[in-house]
Amino acid sequence: MKKVAVLMGGTSSEREVSLSSGKNVYEALRSLNKYEVTAVDVKDDSLAGLPEGVDAVYIALHGGWGENGGVQAALNARKIPYTGPGVLASAIAMDKIKTKMVLGMKNVPTAEWGLANRDTASSPLPLPVVVKPPADGSSVGISKVSDAADWVKCRDAAFAAVSSKEADATILVEEFVPGREFTVAVVNGVAWPVIEIVAKGGWYGYEEKYNSDETKYPFFEGAEAEKMQKIAVDAYNAVGCRGVTRVDFRMSPMGRMYVLELNTSPGFTSHSLVPKSGMKTGLSFAEVCDVILSKADYDR
Ligand SMILES: Nc1ncnc2c1ncn2[C@@H]1O[C@H](COP(=O)(O)OP(=O)(O)OP(=O)(O)O)[C@@H](O)[C@H]1O
Ligand SMILES: [Mg+2]
Repeated sequence: MKKVAVLMGGTSSEREVSLSSGKNVYEALRSLNKYEVTAVDVKDDSLAGLPEGVDAVYIALHGGWGENGGVQAALNARKIPYTGPGVLASAIAMDKIKTKMVLGMKNVPTAEWGLANRDTASSPLPLPVVVKPPADGSSVGISKVSDAADWVKCRDAAFAAVSSKEADATILVEEFVPGREFTVAVVNGVAWPVIEIVAKGGWYGYEEKYNSDETKYPFFEGAEAEKMQKIAVDAYNAVGCRGVTRVDFRMSPMGRMYVLELNTSPGFTSHSLVPKSGMKTGLSFAEVCDVILSKADYDR
């Protein structure tokens, strides 16, 4: 029987969500009766709690060291296969600015963008724009600027969420894309059914993500959905992903599609979107985890 460790918890702001994802994955893998599964609560950004002789690691960490290439590098060094992308793809996807650069280079459509520093006096793009810290997830520090009078306040709010204290730190400024929001799970190079995110008020921020039960997640089908799946696979390949990645989109009222971001360690709670999409293909929650685990690898 293969020995599998599920890493969960971690030290990022997403610790609680990760404990929930990890518990679900742990129970799902155990229910398959084909693995010897250990749950590991990661408390200090190290592999200290990892048992000896593990054949594969299921990464259920979100944010920080668990998603930015840190745990991936530590596992590479020990030649232990793990779920999800390797070091470089994880590091690129974690940084929204690097992601824009790579996707642009590979002609994957994204919204127009620019950069601002701590004293940039006005938006580098025509309003409305969205300002974002490059790397600190969960919509913290993200806001829409519609009125030039709000620029300084929104710029400063984004910098307040930037963990780097470097004087030359930058934030991402992105053209606001009106319209609808979608997400596509790409697993082992194949796009799963597209899910629309219908948030009240059209903005899927922190409140909508974690505190609102008014957000709806219908499946989206047809020719446009297929086009989106193709773009999702292009984005996955452009960044060099493997295993699982969730690609988030906006679609304008004209039907133009833009990749917003890639999540290389997406949620696995009972209401998370990757398992929901996999279950639409006929898999059980446990089988979704198993398909992802089957392609566990390290950077060779
Ligand atoms: N360019 C944009 N145009 C319109 N809405 C946007 C744009 N960028 C972000 N948003 C809205 O803000 C939300 C959060 O933005 P984004 O997904 O880039 O960061 P995040 O959710 O903080 O990152 P993570 O998913 O890693 O937590 C999006 O889901 C979307 O609703
Ligand atoms: Mg997001």
